[in-house]
Amino acid sequence: MKKLSLANLPTKIRKMERLSSLLNSNIYIKHDDQTGSEWSGNKIRKLEFSVREALEKDSDLLITCGGIQSNHCRATVAVATYYGMKSAVLLRISEQPPLEGNYFLDKLMGADVRFCTNDEYRNNRQEIMEEMAAKYRKEGRKPYIVPEGASNGVGVLGYYNAMNEIVEQEKELGIKFDTIVVATGSGGTCSGLNIANIIKGYGRRIIGMAVCDDVDYFQSICLKIGIESLPYLVEQGEISESTAKELAHTLKKSDFEID
Ligand SMILES: Cc1ncc(COP(=O)(O)O)c(C=O)c1O
Repeated sequence: MKKLSLANLPTKIRKMERLSSLLNSNIYIKHDDQTGSEWSGNKIRKLEFSVREALEKDSDLLITCGGIQSNHCRATVAVATYYGMKSAVLLRISEQPPLEGNYFLDKLMGADVRFCTNDEYRNNRQEIMEEMAAKYRKEGRKPYIVPEGASNGVGVLGYYNAMNEIVEQEKELGIKFDTIVVATGSGGTCSGLNIANIIKGYGRRIIGMAVCDDVDYFQSICLKIGIESLPYLVEQGEISESTAKELAHTLKKSDFEID
């Protein structure tokens, strides 16, 4: 697929021997923590698609948001820096934070930082980022807003790809996973895995473990961004327009299992 090539892929799949014998089950881990040191973690798979779109739109500034220690913000700032772009992050805080961890790295890599309260983040983060973008536009910049966790239609393609990667690796490993369990924070990971599972007919059970909010919230998010991903999958030549139209009508919240 057309995307940036930043993450170390494919990430390793390793059997967790002791946990497997303890639980009398075959448990494997896919090491998406090892996608790279500066943009480690799962977000880079989504950023490979969204930042490609930003670069195609001639953007010179990435704006995103997250908690004060957000891995996603740090990864986005790192990618912006790599491409010589400017970056700005909207960080959620409850008190004045010490300059450490990912917040320190954001600053070290030159990101502009704007703080907001938990309530502002929950209710108005998109408006605040739009406001930031408008200010940068006035300064002659071309901002591109990456939503929380890069979880939107274009970002979903990162985990659509990851699902295909898992199935390829199964062949090499000589195994077939029946269940995939994944953390669900902003929804893009869970949505992308499911969209590939449905489109390719892999028939696996995918369980998104909600790290916050509730089942209904995440099923709605996964469905929304899953549907938003369909035009991008058409553009990438993965599905036809008629398949996309049909899926847009048939996909439903219960297609996304959340626990
Ligand atoms: C390793 C890992 N997997 C999954 C997730 C959740 O991803 P998403 O934000 O796409 O729901 C996170 C969230 O930060 C994560 O760190």
